[in-house]
Amino acid sequence: MKKRAPDLPAPGSIWASLPTPALLLDAQDRVIAINPAAESFLNLSTRSMQGQPVLDKLAIDAPLEEVFARARANQSALFLNDVDVGTGERAPVVCNLQVAPLNDDPGTLLLTIAPRELADRLGRSQNVKSAAKSAIGMAEMLAHEIKNPLAGISGAAQLISMNASAEDRELTDLIVEETRRIVKLLEQVEQFGNLRPPEQRAVNIHDVLDRARRSSLVGFAAHMQIVEDYDPSLPSTLGDGDQLLQVFLNLLKNAAEASKGKPGVIRIRTFYDMALRLRRRDGTGRSVPLQVEIIDNGPGIAPDIASEIFEPFVSGRENGTGLGLALVSKIISDHGGWISVDSVPGKTVFRISLPIAPKGTDGNGTETP
Ligand SMILES: Nc1ncnc2c1ncn2[C@@H]1O[C@H](COP(=O)(O)OP(=O)(O)OP(=O)(O)O)[C@@H](O)[C@H]1O
Ligand SMILES: [Mg+2]
Repeated sequence: MKKRAPDLPAPGSIWASLPTPALLLDAQDRVIAINPAAESFLNLSTRSMQGQPVLDKLAIDAPLEEVFARARANQSALFLNDVDVGTGERAPVVCNLQVAPLNDDPGTLLLTIAPRELADRLGRSQNVKSAAKSAIGMAEMLAHEIKNPLAGISGAAQLISMNASAEDRELTDLIVEETRRIVKLLEQVEQFGNLRPPEQRAVNIHDVLDRARRSSLVGFAAHMQIVEDYDPSLPSTLGDGDQLLQVFLNLLKNAAEASKGKPGVIRIRTFYDMALRLRRRDGTGRSVPLQVEIIDNGPGIAPDIASEIFEPFVSGRENGTGLGLALVSKIISDHGGWISVDSVPGKTVFRISLPIAPKGTDGNGTETP
């Protein structure tokens, strides 16, 4: 026997009973309404919120402007997990956010905020951190231990090769070649553990990109075409040129490897976008207006690993260590920046957003052009 669906209650009563904090935003990201659950969670009244830009009222450490714009442009819901949400009145709490455009009014957005249980949050974030830490610690130790015997193996093979026939020399060459490859992998693991805090000086992003582009074209990206699409007026960022070079090399290498040896095109795009701000725990905002995008026309990121590519040891490649992007994300976060990725078959965009060097700032007292 089928039950008839009951008539829906008035929307207002659903809104008032919804246990999840929810906010309704107009096309300019101003608050139209907040439900009672949001009032008590944020400790703010509807009256104090109505008509106010939501980003002035909430401290959220994610580039929400961009997320809102994307939800409107794609007319689809977006999810953001594990972000800190606070207000001037209230200490930040880790939450999962959902942003959904309203069906009958596409500019209007529904933002729901689901606070994560305290226990769950402490447990999980600590787990992830210590798991990554012990995995890296273990790998570093192994790397160190394996490098010595490898040097011995490679040396012995070279000695044998001196008196070997041409046929045997092919085999000893193989040993030397393969041990060299392993040593390279191990060095990458060690590098991850050795990362120092970034130096703070004014860095011209285009100089760094140029170095990255030139060295990749003579190496791993020899089969690729690299197109520059720069905004020459871009100001300097504050940071460590060598570490940023490592970031762009890793991204270019991934883009080149994605094409699997076939010719492809990588576009490096730089531009200025003042709208992007990172919100910090203490409620202050930091703008990250320098944008660098590395765009490739490869097959895109495999969906089964897409949500984890920034974790150490996650790789979709046979010989990958899975440390490239973990290193990138560590360096960028040490620089106070933000990295995001958008990937569909045929177009993968890694975007890095960095702060500007304040005028006259330079760690060494020398001005970098
Ligand atoms: N531009 C891209 N296109 C398609 N897939 C990508 C791209 N960039 C990264 N990936 C995927 O993400 C995975 C993780 O990348 P990451 O750089 O962290 O490790 P890796 O390249 O596998 O190894 P390593 O960089 O340490 O040599 C890659 O193995 C690949 O599957
Ligand atoms: Mg890589």
